[in-house]
Amino acid sequence: MELLDKLNWRYAAKAMNGEKVAEDKIERIIEAARLAPTSSGLQPFEILVVKNQEIKEKIKPIAWNQSVITDCSHLLVFAAWDTYTPERINYMFDLTNEIRGFKNEGWENYRKMLLDMYPQRDAEENFNHAAKQAYIAFAHAIMAAAFEKVDATPLEGFDPAAVDEILGLREKGLRSAVLLPLGYRKTEEDWLVNLVKVRKSTKDLVTVIE
Ligand SMILES: Cc1cc2nc3c(=O)[nH]c(=O)nc-3n(C[C@H](O)[C@H](O)[C@H](O)COP(=O)(O)O)c2cc1C
Repeated sequence: MELLDKLNWRYAAKAMNGEKVAEDKIERIIEAARLAPTSSGLQPFEILVVKNQEIKEKIKPIAWNQSVITDCSHLLVFAAWDTYTPERINYMFDLTNEIRGFKNEGWENYRKMLLDMYPQRDAEENFNHAAKQAYIAFAHAIMAAAFEKVDATPLEGFDPAAVDEILGLREKGLRSAVLLPLGYRKTEEDWLVNLVKVRKSTKDLVTVIE
């Protein structure tokens, strides 16, 4: 039950102490996010790793002044594609063919189906779909951080348009979806650190259908 022990250890740290996280740990956390499954394997997002303190200072006021933004070591920004384009879809299908070294008719038909469907759809709907995929990677990063004994605060309390502006995301066809400050808990200033974790009972969460 090692994984569950680590998931019980983790919590959404409310205060961090500014200590730097070793780069090899950050790399493994990001690798876990990279390995996350996504719909059709499109990985429709990018991860920005903000180490720059001035940029973190700029983000803090538009993130409800949450201190973890500036007291974290690395601030991960999960930024989803603003829409699906033929180029973006083709890039991932071509990459698959290149890496696997062969073309497959079924796979090519599937590509065509997505090309006929996604780019025509409303950009907002596409962004929302892409953002869901970004959240899967975000969850992987949270688990990987716990595995590395690195604290992480999942963070949606921010103004996405302002973060997009600060990081120049819209010019890159991206929109911020969710943030993940990584660092180390500041136990003496964190009201949450010693409180018992609260979760619904399994009975209230799960329905088994035999
Ligand atoms: C998508 C998402 C967004 C969240 N946004 C914030 C946030 O902006 N600020 C914050 O302090 N906690 C935030 N949280 C933390 C949750 O409140 C916390 O995970 C939840 O209460 C469960 O507690 P635990 O993570 O400490 O076990 C967020 C969590 C998730 C998953």
